[in-house]
Amino acid sequence: MPDTAVVTGAARGIGRAIASRLAREGWQLVVADLDAAELAAVAEETGALAVPGDTSTDAGVRHLVDTAYDHLGHVDVFFANAGIGTLQGLEADDAEWARALDTNVLAHVRAARHLVPRWLDAGGGRLVVTASAAGLLTMLGDAPYSVSKHAAVAFSEWLSATYRHRGIVVQAICPQGVQTRMLEESGPLRELLTRDATVSADDVADAAWQALSSDAFYVLPHPEVADYAAQRAAHPDAWLAGMNRLQQKLDHQTQTSTTTPTQEPA
Ligand SMILES: NC(=O)c1ccc[n+]([C@@H]2O[C@H](COP(=O)([O-])OP(=O)(O)OC[C@H]3O[C@@H](n4cnc5c(N)ncnc54)[C@H](O)[C@@H]3O)[C@@H](O)[C@H]2O)c1
Repeated sequence: MPDTAVVTGAARGIGRAIASRLAREGWQLVVADLDAAELAAVAEETGALAVPGDTSTDAGVRHLVDTAYDHLGHVDVFFANAGIGTLQGLEADDAEWARALDTNVLAHVRAARHLVPRWLDAGGGRLVVTASAAGLLTMLGDAPYSVSKHAAVAFSEWLSATYRHRGIVVQAICPQGVQTRMLEESGPLRELLTRDATVSADDVADAAWQALSSDAFYVLPHPEVADYAAQRAAHPDAWLAGMNRLQQKLDHQTQTSTTTPTQEPA
């Protein structure tokens, strides 16, 4: 079993749970996040080296990968996990789109750019991308998230199709609702995200851990996501009509909650 890894977005949520799980299994780790203070606490708990910084920029990823190789000697697995939502539709401006695309997809392109040449020299390596069920389906209420997560899955597929025969394994974790701060802060989308059962960050870390013993591309902590993706592929119009019915329910709930105060007696 390999035993060195980098985990991005490791200060909390899914990334923190993955780092903790790997540390319990005896792995040597480098952890990265924008939140330096929380990251230091995770490093303390897991014995990892903390590399605070922005893992979505090319300079940030290059620094992270160089530091990880200096510290660990080699990187068996890179968990490209950091991600953000925007909670916006057409109102998202270009800067918001750029931030989502940088963080949720170009970060993975940049990581691969710095890792793959080293992995080809070494004879192999593994990139595990935390995408989302939104990357296979859609995330109502968040256009930049849906598009960037689809792109994350598409890039992961491309990488696997291109380098699989040269020892590079790529996997895409595609959860639905996970009990993390991202879910807590999802505002009006919270109800949508919790329609199906949610799982804990530790459950996702377990799924990620199990996935390391296989080369299966999709890692689905919510098994129903496979059924939804099959429905979407087989019956796209029926699937879209179903999503639109859900959107109408959301519209209705939003209208009800925004009109309620004015219905109360003055
Ligand atoms: N929570 C869910 O319901 C859910 C569902 C599907 C997929 N995901 C995905 O799981 C991943 C982890 O999300 P989470 O739920 O643990 O969220 P979270 O908000 O709890 O944690 C995300 C972490 O990533 C860090 N981060 C964000 N941008 C960064 C950047 N540019 N550089 C470095 N660090 C950065 C944040 O500081 C934070 O510590 C994300 O990619 C998210 O899209 C989450």
